[in-house]
Amino acid sequence: MGRVQARVEGLDRSTFHGVPIAGFEDAGRRQLILLLMAGLEPGSKVVDIGCGMLRAGYWLIHFLDPGCYHGIEPHTGRLDLGRGSILEQDTLAQKRPRFDANADFDTSVFGTRFDVFLAYSIWTHAAKRHIEIMLDRFLADSTPQAFFLTSVLPSGWRGADHAGDAWVGTSHESATPGCIRHSLRWIEAACRRRDLHMRRLGRERDGQTWLLISRDPDRQLLFSSVWLDGPWARLERRVKRLNR
Ligand SMILES: C[S@@+](CC[C@H](N)C(=O)[O-])C[C@H]1O[C@@H](n2cnc3c(N)ncnc32)[C@H](O)[C@@H]1O
Repeated sequence: MGRVQARVEGLDRSTFHGVPIAGFEDAGRRQLILLLMAGLEPGSKVVDIGCGMLRAGYWLIHFLDPGCYHGIEPHTGRLDLGRGSILEQDTLAQKRPRFDANADFDTSVFGTRFDVFLAYSIWTHAAKRHIEIMLDRFLADSTPQAFFLTSVLPSGWRGADHAGDAWVGTSHESATPGCIRHSLRWIEAACRRRDLHMRRLGRERDGQTWLLISRDPDRQLLFSSVWLDGPWARLERRVKRLNR
């Protein structure tokens, strides 16, 4: 077992910490890997919206230059666990991550232009008006080449498009778990209204679909074939291998 997983397994298991304990370390590392595939560099200024217990933050803080990681988390108990029990204290002192507890998705509080916006498992709880705020903040608080990696549960036969106006799931205000779905068409239109481009990436192991949003219509992952191969391309490869 990895050191991060060992630390998270040592936490009080009678409380829900916002994300599953099983696979915590790998799920955080996968966020870092995808960010690297999208172009993350050590000097990138990153804002992690709803950073929770630093599942991705742990790896990002280690990778990034001092002062480059910014986390927003209104549930201060979760943030304290991340800072106090998951992250090493010497790393905290050396890397100087910055945090804010606002619940308004307000990335302007840091007074910085970001190269990377990350919101993993946030749009699976946020209402459409929250998503619009995050897209507006991306426009206002990011550099021209910036990208926004986020995840959703797309609506469809598995579940309807969410019409409600409030956050659904646990937070600083609620202990009731829950997830919602959004129409990818609606998200794409919300991006288009802002001259932003949305690219649908692969699905995570927990069923969430990654989205890559940027001002650049041609923005790609560094290794697109790893993630973007559809089932037909995979089948073709398998057939070719069999015929060899
Ligand atoms: C499913 S967790 C995901 C946490 C983190 N992104 C990760 O991958 O581990 C959702 C997080 O969003 C936080 N949250 C709730 N309301 C929020 C708000 N208004 N703004 C930002 N984060 C919020 C919750 O407290 C929780 O930590």
